[in-house]
Amino acid sequence: RNITLIGAPVDSGKRRRGCLMGPDAMRTAGLEQAITGLGHSITDIGNLAPARVDIPEDDNIHALAETVGWTQTLMQAAQNAMTDSLPIFLGGDHALSLGSVAGVAAHAAQVDRPLFVLWLDAHSDFHTPKTTASGNLHGTPLGYVTGLPGFDAFPPLPAIVPMNNICLIGLRSVDPAEQAALVENNIRSVDMRAIDEGGIKRPLEAFLDDVSRANGLLHVSLDVDFLDPAIAPAVGTTVPGGATFREAHLVMEMLHDSGLVTSLDLVELNPFLDDRGQTAKLMVDLTASLLGRRVFDRPTRSY
Ligand code: ARG
Ligand code: MN
Ligand code: MN
Ligand code: MN
Repeated sequence: RNITLIGAPVDSGKRRRGCLMGPDAMRTAGLEQAITGLGHSITDIGNLAPARVDIPEDDNIHALAETVGWTQTLMQAAQNAMTDSLPIFLGGDHALSLGSVAGVAAHAAQVDRPLFVLWLDAHSDFHTPKTTASGNLHGTPLGYVTGLPGFDAFPPLPAIVPMNNICLIGLRSVDPAEQAALVENNIRSVDMRAIDEGGIKRPLEAFLDDVSRANGLLHVSLDVDFLDPAIAPAVGTTVPGGATFREAHLVMEMLHDSGLVTSLDLVELNPFLDDRGQTAKLMVDLTASLLGRRVFDRPTRSY
């Protein structure tokens, strides 16, 4: 496949700085070599910058204008890259998905296929600028792309992602307003307790079956805090009790085998908080699993 790396050093979606170094940390950890080593071709378009937009700041929202500028830039970059490649958005905090997912949705509408979104995250990121308590826009991308009200300062959505086409996996920190909205809209939500009780394989399989039956495009958004902080310390919003190394790789391997993934976000890596690059390397290895790396070609025989 053709892969496009899109550096998106978005650091405006929350107050703690550092995610702007994410794209270069993942490059340093060997992302390009990992991908080309699997036989894919790759184009790295470098790091983008936010469009300058002339909108007033909002007292309740952190760095509104900068994030709106990023949304505009990334929406366009996503549409361009989708025409002939699988884009990987190198974050940057999760506010980058306001633009990446909206742009991918616009592309899906153009080619007349439904878009599905898999959200691998401790958080649901289903706030709006009206419901957020923190004022941090990295908590709002799913609210935006599903067309919730309150995003008037943002570019009008070219196409909505249907609530039914979203699957959240890894949840363990959901604010009350998000909880209410998730239930009201009946969003498929696999929290860590569900994974403890039944494993991660079955809910993912069920979702992938739906994507496949609908001949959908699939966008995957991988937040570092999906992972347990013991294996992925480089994130500002750690929540204990996340996905294990094995669970995370299994998800990526199943995504590869499905052949359904058409775009990917790698978000919330804060290299300032990393331990000798371990989180950056893990994000690279997970990406490699998603793109076809296997430790062992499994024999057809079972034991
Ligand atoms: N729900 C919290 C908030 O709105 C945390 C969001 C964390 N989001 C993230 N992408 N890490 O502030
Ligand atoms: Mn997130
Ligand atoms: Mn998160
Ligand atoms: Mn909140």
